[in-house]
Formats: sequence, structure tokens, C-alpha cells
Amino acid sequence: MPRYYATTPIFYVNDAPHIGHTYNAVTVDAVTRWHRMLGDDVWSLTGTDEHGLKVQRSAEENGRTPQEQADLNSDRFREAWAGVNLANDDFIRTTEPRHHQAVQALLQKAYDNGFVYQDTYEGWYCVRCEAYYEEDDLLDDHHCPIHKAPAEWMTEENWFFKLSAFQERLEAWFEAVPDNITPGGYRNEAMGILKLGLRDVSMTRSSIDWGIPVPWDDDHVFYVWYDALINYATAVGYADDPERFEAWWPAAHHFIGKDILRFHTIYWPAMLMAAGIEDMPHFHVHGFLLLGGEKMSKSGNVTKIAPSEMTEVLGVDGFRHALLRDHPFGPDSEFSYESMVERYNTDLANNYGNLISRVATVVGKKCDGVGPAPQADSPLAAVVAESYATAAEAWDKVQPSQALDATIRIVRDTNEYLQQNEPWKMDPGPEVDAVMGDAIEAARIATVLLWPTIPEAAEAAWKRLGLDGTVAEQPLPAAADWGGYPGGLTVSTGDPLFPRVKG
Ligand code: MSP
Repeated sequence: MPRYYATTPIFYVNDAPHIGHTYNAVTVDAVTRWHRMLGDDVWSLTGTDEHGLKVQRSAEENGRTPQEQADLNSDRFREAWAGVNLANDDFIRTTEPRHHQAVQALLQKAYDNGFVYQDTYEGWYCVRCEAYYEEDDLLDDHHCPIHKAPAEWMTEENWFFKLSAFQERLEAWFEAVPDNITPGGYRNEAMGILKLGLRDVSMTRSSIDWGIPVPWDDDHVFYVWYDALINYATAVGYADDPERFEAWWPAAHHFIGKDILRFHTIYWPAMLMAAGIEDMPHFHVHGFLLLGGEKMSKSGNVTKIAPSEMTEVLGVDGFRHALLRDHPFGPDSEFSYESMVERYNTDLANNYGNLISRVATVVGKKCDGVGPAPQADSPLAAVVAESYATAAEAWDKVQPSQALDATIRIVRDTNEYLQQNEPWKMDPGPEVDAVMGDAIEAARIATVLLWPTIPEAAEAAWKRLGLDGTVAEQPLPAAADWGGYPGGLTVSTGDPLFPRVKG
């Protein structure tokens, strides 16, 4: 059984979750649900990034200890993710003992292998990015290009990671794996960074103590990024279960925003190589959700929208669907409340929800409430086959918006088919049965394909169609084959699955 190990970044605990973070988390959730339906062995991970100067400072500002700050905001992420129905298998916190162990073990290996040395570092540091900047990359007055806030001059005696030693091996990896980073534009960006030539980087801090101690030097803790990236290895047993690590690591897929591309696609693979790990992860990179053209972020002036504000209006499933369908994975994308509502109304209230209730009503009136079997040569069979092929390829390429587009086409075409045939005007008999059997079958398949984004509504629709078991356990691709609906099942009506929302 193929394995698929998917991760979100771990989120900083200096503030609460917003819908920019949620876009990443829901994408991972939908993609992993798709892989579960394909029968893959799936493990999905999310969590919180709790060390470093940024967290230490925001704790001080809030009159808390860093641990209190971390506990509070880690819980907020956990709750937010439950609130959007994330089916993550694990939630990691970098303050957990399992993670301390893994960080120390992995970086000790890099040290033992000769890739770590001591030196002095001076430079401009943006605390919000937790990163040093070259002077040329800063704006006027040494302001950070991302946060537009002043960077600070820092001088530290630090341990350095010999990143430069990995130039050629990283290039070889890019050459050998053409889809190591998707979409391709981000792969080009990473190759551009590599082409400029890699310089060694500082990997410890002696100026703060909110971090994981360096095993070979008591005065230092690891720089938060070196600690954070290792979470992905911790969670599949790097320190405590080598067999488990060996099984899952080759299947790693990291889903990240474009701002953390360099750390993930250059530093992290080099760290893995330094520790003697051969398999490199795959990376899937997305842009930002923007509000009024600006990145929605914790520190900027842009309003932050909490996911709960949207689920209150659209419901959990409605929000998940509109979020993924409205924002293609890759480019930056403007977030608009109005277009989310419109998307919900068009796709779910008027199309999918309407199809499920229409089918139940007409079968109730014209077929004694018992669903007829579909016709083998239905015109909808071809629509389904084509849409499935497109959707499957799009999910595979991590393009949920395209996958959903293809899936909704089934729903739209089925509604049109009903509109053209007007079974509600026919007398009960074989003609109505033929049309309604086809409509139920198309609705069944659309329900299967929509499960990754609208899991609860899909289960409810499944029951209304009188089908056995759950959608979750339907195997793909077989469950998308035309003709799976046996006929003879009792179809039931109910409240609208997706009531219309006023714009
Ligand atoms: N803690 C680091 C990641 C360490 S992973 C080993 C971090 N955390 S973060 O909380 O600042 O960001 C987490 C993720 O949310 C990043 O992938 C980032 O790109 C994403 N987003 C934050 N704001 C975003 C938008 N406005 N839109 C889309 N994603 C954005 O970075």
C-alpha cells in the first residue's frame, strides 16, 4: 500500500490562527482525505512552533512565561483545527520531550559528521521573521521587506551549519527529482537561490534561553528554525522508533507557504543530508491569501479573519469548499467575503444541495421513494468519467481548486439533465425511472468526490440516497465507476444540506 505522509508547517504561538493558516491546513486535510480514499496508508501532521525570540518576546509583552504563552496559543490552534474538521493523525508541539530528543539526536549527527563549527556572526536580524538579512535585501532604514519593521543589528558567537558543503548534492537532488517542488514556479525560485551559491548559516543562539539546548555546548540553544524543521522527523519516530521513521520518511510531503521556501527547500534537505538521511521530502508551495492586496498576517495592519468567523456564516463544510475552490494552490489570491458567499451559494446551495433534495423529492413522488437503477448508456456516464479523470489528476498534483471544479461539473450537468428531461412533469413509469436512476448515480459519485472537502454533508447525503456504509470507506477509483448504485434503495428527504446564505 503506498504511503503518504503530509505535513502543515508548525504554526508560531505568538498569535491566534487566521484563515491564511487555515488555507494551508484545510488543503492538507482535503489532499490527505483524497489519498485515504485511494487506499493509501496516510499520516497527517500539524502542530505548533513554540521556541525562539519571537515567542519569548510576545510572552513578555503579554505578561506570561513563554510556556504559558505556548500552552494558550497551541490550544487555540488545536481548537481552530477541530473547528474546521481537520482529521490530522498527530499534533506536535516543539516543547514536547519527543521533539527535544529528536532535535538533539539529529543535530548531534550533523555535528559528528563534521558539518558544524564555531564562529562569530554579525548581521541584521528581523525578529518577526526569525531570520538574518543581507543589508541589500532590507528596505530603507534597515526595515524588513516582509514586515516593514526595523531589523536589529546582532552580534553572536554561534555554532554554524556548513550549508555550503551541500551545494552539489542539492543540485543533484533537483536534477534527479523534477517534481521535488510544486508548482514549478517555486521550484525555479529555489533553484535560483541555489545558483547564487550557499553560505554557511548560524544554527544556535546564546542570547536567549527559550529553546532546545545544544548537546555539545551548554551555553547555547538551537536557533528556532533548526529546531522547528525537525518536527517533521520527530513525529514519525526519528528519535524513538527507527523502523517507523524508515517506513514513513520516504513518503513525506511538506505543504508550505511561499515565505518559508528557503528554509524548507534548501536548509532542511541539507540538514537531512548532514545527518545521513538519504530520502528527501516533496514540497508543495502556496501563495498568500491577501486582503486588499496585503498578506493577511499576525503582525501587519491587515485585518485578520479567524476561521470561526467564516464557519459561522457558511458552516464548516461550506467554508472548506469555498476556501479551496476560490483560491488556486500556488499564486497569491485575494480573499473576499462576498466571493466566498457567492461560491457557497452557487456550488453548494444551488447546485449540490439542490441536486440532493431534488432527487429525493422526485423519487419520493414519482418512484414511491425507491431509487431506480441507472442506465448503462446514460449520457451522464461520460461526464462522470471525464470529470473523475480530471479531478484525480488535479488532486494528485495538489490542485484542489481544479479538482473541485471538475467535480462540480458533474453536479451542474446532472441538474441540467434533470432540467431538460423534467421528470417531475412525467407520469410514474420507466421513463422517470431512467432519468432518476441516472441522477441518483451521478449524485452518488459527486458525493464520493466531494467528501475530501465537505465530509459531513457528504455523509448526510449518502444516507439520504439510502446507501450502505459511509462515504469515508468508499474505495477510489472503483467508487467512481458508473453503475455502482444498485437501485432499490429507499431515498429520503430532509432539511437543505446547504441553506442559501444572503450575500
Ligand atoms: N513556524 C513557522 C513554520 C515552521 S515549519 C517547520 C511559520 N509559522 S507561521 O505561523 O508564521 O506560518 C505558518 C504558515 O502559514 C506558513 O506556511 C505561512 O506561509 C502560512 N501563512 C501565514 N499567513 C498566510 C496568508 N495570509 N496566506 C496563506 N498562508 C499564510 O512560518
